[in-house]
Amino acid sequence: MITSTDIAILDRDDPLAALRDRFVLPEGVIYLDGNSLGPAPRATREEITAVVEEEWAQDLIASWNKAGWFALPQSLGDRLAPLVGALPGELLVCDGVSANLFKCLHAALALRPDRHVLVAEEAGFPTDLYIASGVGQSHGDLTTRLEGRGGADLESLIDGDVAVVLVNHVDYKTGALRDMHALTRLAHGKGALVIWDLCHSAGVMPIDLAGCGADFAVGCTYKYLNGGPGAPGFLYVASSHHEGLTQPLTGWWSHADPFAFSPDYQAAPGIKAMLTGTQPILSMRALSAALDVYEDVELDVVRAKSTALTDLFVSLIRERCDGHGLTLVGPADARDRGSHVSLSHPDGFPIMQALIAHGAVGDFRAPDILRFGFAPLYIRFCDVEAAVEKLKEIMDQGTWRDPAFTRRSVVT
Ligand SMILES: Cc1ncc(COP(=O)(O)O)c(C=O)c1O
Repeated sequence: MITSTDIAILDRDDPLAALRDRFVLPEGVIYLDGNSLGPAPRATREEITAVVEEEWAQDLIASWNKAGWFALPQSLGDRLAPLVGALPGELLVCDGVSANLFKCLHAALALRPDRHVLVAEEAGFPTDLYIASGVGQSHGDLTTRLEGRGGADLESLIDGDVAVVLVNHVDYKTGALRDMHALTRLAHGKGALVIWDLCHSAGVMPIDLAGCGADFAVGCTYKYLNGGPGAPGFLYVASSHHEGLTQPLTGWWSHADPFAFSPDYQAAPGIKAMLTGTQPILSMRALSAALDVYEDVELDVVRAKSTALTDLFVSLIRERCDGHGLTLVGPADARDRGSHVSLSHPDGFPIMQALIAHGAVGDFRAPDILRFGFAPLYIRFCDVEAAVEKLKEIMDQGTWRDPAFTRRSVVT
């Protein structure tokens, strides 16, 4: 039996405890949805005010040079690079995940012109499959093999015909974590390239893209990295693929000399060839402020707290919510999961709405998943216990049966 005293000790000994103060967290809310949208870092308001009032308002267009706006995709990319194990010059912060994936998929397929098979996950985040299908429209001979169809697992689908494997590092629904090293090695053994979707792992665990020999990666910055709603995505291309890198969204920012305004396109060397057009500078600067938090953080410490938080949640659910039909979805072993835990229940939607109304915010993923994210930079162990107690009360008392909790908004 885990007691509140045990939990207080975990908080007392938490090396990351002081970081919580660097975020704005509404009074009375236990926020377990930072795996979807991170909260606002305190530094963001100051940063955005400075960009608007000093740079934009005072220096106007000169800020593209003077304040380094034009170089932000690369400069922010170089700051983010160590968080995912990329080398300087291998990562750009730009556009959104879906657009970046479109570019990376095209670029990767161009590196394997004699192969026409893509391997992906049927249960992966849908945008990945939608983008793959869009890419397929301009690659008429592309066939997609999906993990999950007919019970096949990803590894068994990779053979000498496969050009690219598109895979999530952490599954958005189940929280299952893939072994990046092993899968990359297996794919390379068959001559295939791998694109990693890091949306649910970036910022919450050490990632070693270069050490694993990863080819491409995409990820978002609005979840664990706390860049804000609609914060830009990032993309990674291993430097070994920079020579002759091509992608179809050849806007002027990817031109070798954009201010020559030449009618003829010539790709910039290196990672800049993956750019397209003008970037959302305010959002990028919000991300810049959010990344400051990581200057004082070791990712293996973040990972250790993350596994302790998710383990505590799983244990408390087992001890205190038994008999209510809440089933753990995804790995039982914390080493095999990311930083969120999912429970299934046939009435998952109204249960989550009731929980939110009682001050613990998670989210719902159709058809029956209640998702709880544990972001180690600001979630305390006592928050985990308080959320489980609220869930227990809602289940014990059947509060969730109130018809008000069945009303659906667009975003779940
Ligand atoms: C795993 C995964 N990939 C891709 C996306 C889509 O990203 P975007 O809407 O920024 O294009 C998401 C969004 O939540 C995601 O969770």
